[in-house]
Amino acid sequence: MEDRPKLLILYATQTGNALDAAERVAREAERRACLVKLLSMDEYDVSSLPYEGTVIFVVSTTGQGDTPDPMKVVFWRFLLQRHLSKDWLEGVCYGVFGLGDSGYQKYNFVAKKLDKRLSDLGAMAIVEKGLGDDQHPSGYEAALDPWMLSLWSMLNRINPKFFPHGLDFAIPDMKLVDQPKVQIAYHGDDKVDSQVPPNSDNLLDLKWIEIPMERARSMSRGKFTNVKNRPDCFLKMIKNQPLTRAGCGKDVRHFEFEFVSSAVEYQVGDVLEVLPGQNPSAVDAFIQRCNLDPDAFITVHHRDMDNHLLQSCTIAKVPIRLKDFVELTMDVASASPRRYFFEARTLYV
Ligand SMILES: Cc1cc2nc3c(=O)[nH]c(=O)nc-3n(C[C@H](O)[C@H](O)[C@H](O)COP(=O)(O)O)c2cc1C
Repeated sequence: MEDRPKLLILYATQTGNALDAAERVAREAERRACLVKLLSMDEYDVSSLPYEGTVIFVVSTTGQGDTPDPMKVVFWRFLLQRHLSKDWLEGVCYGVFGLGDSGYQKYNFVAKKLDKRLSDLGAMAIVEKGLGDDQHPSGYEAALDPWMLSLWSMLNRINPKFFPHGLDFAIPDMKLVDQPKVQIAYHGDDKVDSQVPPNSDNLLDLKWIEIPMERARSMSRGKFTNVKNRPDCFLKMIKNQPLTRAGCGKDVRHFEFEFVSSAVEYQVGDVLEVLPGQNPSAVDAFIQRCNLDPDAFITVHHRDMDNHLLQSCTIAKVPIRLKDFVELTMDVASASPRRYFFEARTLYV
């Protein structure tokens, strides 16, 4: 069989946008019959970078110009090592797309730092770095679309085998949409372990919140890092005060929390990931609308990308009550659908 190059896409996200953007790049590449491998940076062995042909990086900036968690601990520290030579990445082609907000002083700092470091290590940029900006009326996608067009054209130029049928070829949308990202397996009561409380109303006992939360997170790819399935602590909100006037277009609030479990240490600029409870009637309405059984026990399995299985899949086998999964991982009342949702919807109307 002809040896075809594969496009490696590495992403690092704090709150999911860079995952969305990376998936979009992957989908658009696949649509053009390009072979793709999509991984979070913490799923990739960074020491293999010199052996890659072409790598696309999709990274957001968090905190005060900080790298997202999946990039911070291993990937970025490794790249910053002084002993790496100027030609360590010679022969590697790359492209960087950053997600940021120009309202911050260190706008898209991570994408800029990464681009510079890759170039300092001898890699060759095949496309000028793209910088997505939350402040743009169309969000980061305003920059992503033109950046992708340049990317396809440059990839085709450096190696036409990326697109064996040429750049005008496109796999029909319906065929791509037909591959679900996740599979839901339903389980009979006999498979459900007795750790699950018969009645989860007993919210005072933190263990009964922690167990389903850990299970839900282990089955929710991209939202939470693999090591962060267990919350660091539980908080009680003691103050929720609006700082903006009603109707001004923004809703900025002052919150105060009190620790109800052990306290955590933090510094200015740290990101606090809050998992608020959802309105129970919104959750019930969503489940009813989708004609689902709230008390069914499920496991959620992610589509295997290039035979790569999530580490968390091993613990993802413990079933969770459907209602708990919806409550703990899906924002049913206020999430705004991304553009891909509407793109996919048009195929079914
Ligand atoms: C707590 C927080 C801190 C942020 N800090 C920065 C920053 O320093 N520079 C920047 O350009 N954008 C910053 N942003 C904007 C994010 O980079 C932007 O919303 C991006 O789309 C998030 O992508 P992600 O969901 O993949 O992490 C920040 C966003 C949040 C919520």
